[in-house]
Amino acid sequence: MASYNLFLLPGDGIGPEVMAEVEKILAWFKAKGIASFNTDRGLVGGCAYDAHGAAISEADMEKAMAADAVLFGAVGGPKWDKVPYDVRPEAGLLRLRKDLGLFANLRPAICYPALADASSLKKDVVEGLDILIVRELTGGVYFGEPKTITDLGNGQKRGIDTQVYDTFEIERISRVAFELAKTRKGKVSSAEKRNVMKTGVLWNEIVTRVHKEEYSSIQLEHVLADNCAMQLVRWPKQYDVIVTDNLFGDVLSDVAAMLTGSLGMLPSASLGAPDAKTKRRKALYEPVHGSAPDIAGTGAANPIAMIASFGMALRYSFGLGEWADKLDQAISAVLAKGLRTKDIAGDKPANATTSQMGEAILQEIQALA
Ligand code: IPM
Ligand code: MG
Repeated sequence: MASYNLFLLPGDGIGPEVMAEVEKILAWFKAKGIASFNTDRGLVGGCAYDAHGAAISEADMEKAMAADAVLFGAVGGPKWDKVPYDVRPEAGLLRLRKDLGLFANLRPAICYPALADASSLKKDVVEGLDILIVRELTGGVYFGEPKTITDLGNGQKRGIDTQVYDTFEIERISRVAFELAKTRKGKVSSAEKRNVMKTGVLWNEIVTRVHKEEYSSIQLEHVLADNCAMQLVRWPKQYDVIVTDNLFGDVLSDVAAMLTGSLGMLPSASLGAPDAKTKRRKALYEPVHGSAPDIAGTGAANPIAMIASFGMALRYSFGLGEWADKLDQAISAVLAKGLRTKDIAGDKPANATTSQMGEAILQEIQALA
């Protein structure tokens, strides 16, 4: 039985609760002899700050670097609103992304048939939706320098963030998008703001060239990022793969999440470049939702995004795509049976807690085995 090192970083708020549901599934995979996941666990975010005064310790960074994949829960909460900027909870996640070189963030937004009513949009707009946002994750305004607040000395301060993209960063993310489009409906929509931003002009130019030279069989369209946001709520099914920069990808993926009914439904995979020798990619898998401190500890959290993130790990890190499909089927079946955590219950009361939802999904996979 293949054996993998999985580093768990549950984080803050609902992170540990949703991670616990994945751990049940991991234990079953091992018991069933499908794959053995050796897990180690670390601290990230506010809990790491409380323990070490940093958003992630050096020891945990080393473990994340050495692991076959990292499973990440969520970070942050009001308790840490006042901690210094450099050690705020989010800094742990951003350091993981940057130091592991996880430049490609895949955020699939799928509307499960049973949830077409749970979206705030009309049923026919979201029913059957299956789009994939490919977000550049290690560049752009998140990391560009200078990034400062300076005192101008006249009672004014100036805040500066810098959006920077180099050719190779745009090339490699667009290749990821084109490759994934090959396995889907064969269409890529590239979103930027070339009408206002130089990085947008360059983005457009490079994506166009990569398409022409390497992927001319794929359909490519360019869309302004603001228009893309509007189109996503107007008629999202026009899209297949959307490729975009770090900041636009952050915003557009939250929009896409609500098309699926709830932020609690959206998984993500963050992948690095394949290693020249081993062909293995560094990878981190995390739900798109945050730490939801308001519901932490109440059993109201939806574990589906976290479980589906593990499904993405099965597909992209462990070559177990068949089991990733089964996990998706199990999620779909549980929803079809009417199980709902609070976030997807609509105006009815929830009929499942976090652990009831997790266990129901586990039972469905067991039935599919
Ligand atoms: C996300 C989150 C993060 C981001 C935060 C927590 C730093 O919103 O993964 O979408 O902005 O990238
Ligand atoms: Mg976000």
